[in-house]
This record gives sequence, C-alpha cells and structure tokens, in this order.
Amino acid sequence: MTEVRPITADSLRYAAKLINNGELVAFPTETVYGLGANAFDEKAVMRIFKAKGRPSDNPLIVHIADAEQANDIAVVSDMAKVIMKAFMPGSLTVVLPKKNCIPFAVTAGLNTVAVRNPLSEEARLFIRECGLPIAAPSANTSTRPSPTTAEAVFEDMQGKIPLILKGKDCDVGIESTVLDLTGDFPTILRPGIVTAAHIREKTGVDVGYYVQPQTGVVKSPGMKYRHYAPKCLMVLCLDENLEKVFAYIEDKKKKELNIGVICEEKFVNEFEKTYSLGLSAEDASKRLFDILRKAEKECDELVCLYTLKDEKSNGVLNRMMKASGGKVL
Ligand code: TXA
Ligand code: MG
Repeated sequence: MTEVRPITADSLRYAAKLINNGELVAFPTETVYGLGANAFDEKAVMRIFKAKGRPSDNPLIVHIADAEQANDIAVVSDMAKVIMKAFMPGSLTVVLPKKNCIPFAVTAGLNTVAVRNPLSEEARLFIRECGLPIAAPSANTSTRPSPTTAEAVFEDMQGKIPLILKGKDCDVGIESTVLDLTGDFPTILRPGIVTAAHIREKTGVDVGYYVQPQTGVVKSPGMKYRHYAPKCLMVLCLDENLEKVFAYIEDKKKKELNIGVICEEKFVNEFEKTYSLGLSAEDASKRLFDILRKAEKECDELVCLYTLKDEKSNGVLNRMMKASGGKVL
C-alpha cells in the first residue's frame, strides 16, 4: 500500500523513520519529485533501482540539507566551494570525488558522487529530518517522463513504496543541471535551468557543455538510456515552418489518428488539439513532463513544436529530444 501524505511535522517524522529503516520515500523538490533512500544503506539504495526498473550502471544523485553536509560524503575542492556557495541551495548538482562512506551501489561503481542541495524548502526539511544524505533519482518508472506532481509519482510508484510526501508542484519542472567538477575542465553533463552563462556570471568560472560521443564510454551513464518517453509516438519540429507540421497531421488524420500538438503559446490557435508550453524556456520546462503524461492519455500521437533557441532552452530541448527518440520533422 502506498500512502500519500501532505508535508507536516508528523508526516516528516514518519518519513524519516521509514528512511532510517531502509525504506523508500518519494518527496518533492523544486525540479521534479525524488525517490529517496538512505545514501549510506546499500540495501535501501538497491530498492530504488528495483522500484524504478533502473539499470544498475546509472548512478544516483545524493541530496543534502545544506552545502556543509557535502564534506561528509565528497572531497570539496576550492573551485567546488565557490560554485557551491553560489548555487546551493539551488537546481545545480555537482559531481565530486566520493568518500568511502558512500557505497558503490549509489555511484554505479564510479569513484565520484553527484551532490545536490535542493532549493525546495520542503525537500531540505525532509533531508534534515532524516539526519542523513538521501540518494534519490527522479521518482518515475525508468524511461517514463519525470514526475512533477504527487499524482504523477503515484501513477508510477503505487504499490511499490510505502510513502509519497505531497508538497508543492514542482516549479522548475525538469531535473537539475549536472556539473562535473572532477575533470580538467568543469563540464555540464546534463543541461538544466542553471546554464553555463549563469555559472560564469555568478562565479567567474568558465564551464563547457559535454558533447556525447557517437561511440565509446559516456561520462554520465544516464545519458545513454531512453528517457522521459510518453506512451505514444512523438515527433519534434524545431523551426517555424508550420507547413511541415500541417502536412504531417493531415497524413495522420487520413489514418484516423488523433494528433496532439505540444507548442509555445503563440502557436495554440494554429492546430485543433494543443497543449501550451507557455511563453519562455522557464514555462516550457515547468510544463513539459506534466503535459506529456496528460497528452499520452488523450492522443494517439504527438507533435512537439518548439522554436526558442536561447541557452536556457537547452534543458527542455534535451528532454524533448530524448522523449521523442530524436525524431525531428
Ligand atoms: O533534479 C534532479 O536532479 C532530480 C531530483 C529528484 O533531485 N534527480 C534526478 O536524478 O534527476 P536522476 O537519477 O533521474 O538523474 C541523475 C543524473 C543521471 O543522468 C546520472 O547519470 C547523473 O545524474 N549522475 C549521477 N551520478 C553521477 C556521477 N557520479 N557522474 C556522472 N553523472 C552522474
Ligand atoms: Mg531521472
């Protein structure tokens, strides 16, 4: 049985008890909901992989209540200190050399650990109450869109975990930016709402974006898997050439397929059935996963039309690419 409880002093106490007993608890953060376990407890961590159906070579992020707590689990360089001071709490995860107390089950055998101090006060209250660092991936079944509401967590995790803490819906809506600080040059492994430009602006540190090689070893193992996918087919259109989209929909209509279009607000009157991504990269990030879970229930196939090209759009574009399997009109 899976209980959904609002965040109160009582439910937090109960959640902490479950975590300290090696159980899993889903909790809200400002990005997406997480599926948490005691990061020091290898058995509890294994339960996460089982509940999600997640490949065991995809490492987890360890969540901390404040930046200081990073010293318990990782080696924090001077540069890491500067970046953490500027972005913790925040939607930036940093990859650092790990300390021995973190089991390899968390890091999928890597000598590094991803560390995150969420902006969400509800998340930090939960971690603090547990008194431990919390290993947590997004609380979706592997390959499914990440959950931004307690309802979406319930859809995927019902019957698999004892408790979902219900908090605010997620404001950012896509997962944190992952920044690797263990190489020669700070590198963003997963784009998010915190961009290279933000990091440069706030700290003076230059960071690059990791470009995935076509073959060989990938740096962030999560990048090689299918991700975020709705249950139905989805294709992307990334420019304003709407004729392509009209023709595509026309063709599908002949086959009696019901097509939904996920698009920026300015296009919503162009098509019959639309889901608005709003006006900006922030709006689109906040809405995308929620829309995917809604639209897959209402449509046979989806077209996602997104034309913004600013750096802040990197995160949401990365999720759209993966959700569609890279199919672009
Ligand atoms: O916003 C978030 O980051 C959410 C919330 C719950 O905090 N969590 C999240 O976790 O997105 P997950 O497991 O869905 O994604 C973790 C990402 C994966 O791409 C994984 O490969 C990468 O972080 N990662 C974790 N540890 C790593 C490490 N030691 N080195 C490189 N990449 C790592
Ligand atoms: Mg995930």
